[in-house]
Amino acid sequence: MDGNGRWATRRLLPRTAGHRAGVKNIVPVVTAAFDRGVSVVTLYAFSTENKGRAKDEVDGLIDLIRKQMRPMTRDLIARGSRVGFIGDIEYFPNDVQNILCEIAAENSHIENAQIVNIALNYGGREEIARAARLASESGEVTRARIERYLYTADMPPLDMIIRTGGEKRLSNFLLYQAAYAELFFSDTLWPDFNENELTGILDEFAHRQRRFGK
Ligand code: FPP
Repeated sequence: MDGNGRWATRRLLPRTAGHRAGVKNIVPVVTAAFDRGVSVVTLYAFSTENKGRAKDEVDGLIDLIRKQMRPMTRDLIARGSRVGFIGDIEYFPNDVQNILCEIAAENSHIENAQIVNIALNYGGREEIARAARLASESGEVTRARIERYLYTADMPPLDMIIRTGGEKRLSNFLLYQAAYAELFFSDTLWPDFNENELTGILDEFAHRQRRFGK
């Protein structure tokens, strides 16, 4: 969900206003993806590297999580989704951790739902290192055992990644899972990304030949 900062700066607003607009865009885009048959959506909301931003912006993002996560996830759950979190949430203040744990506990029983994973203090390299550490504690470090300890262990393979905001890189997102994912880059800033553009990307995905190296 890249481009919130630029979206705000172009309107002479503080960057946090861009993140707020970004949050507002999540439910419509995720709902549109589910309506078109997507079964799992993972949102990159706060990376391990985002902690290094100016204190004001980091505090603003944490406050947004504190105030908006519950209403946003309620909306998603009411539409039939199950919401979970990936990443090391121990970084967040206790009250925020409690909110996240409560949301996860409240809806973890929902079966056969479309799944929304929200990545918070998430980094792909950290996820791989953690999985390798946990794998080594339980025996030989095999690919199967590493995959069992990834945050996405129970999810289907990753099909596609969409990055908005014009940059063409993965920025430490789902690095292991991205091995054969189809990549899409849009110049649209996240708050302006919409259902029409998503539909175009899903149509292009349907026409891509996936050979998985074969
Ligand atoms: C990247 O844009 C976006 C982020 C670093 C944060 C995304 C977070 C949210 C949309 C909100 C999370 C909160 C909830 C409740 C889910 P950028 O700031 O790097 O934009 P720029 O490249 O234009 O500067």
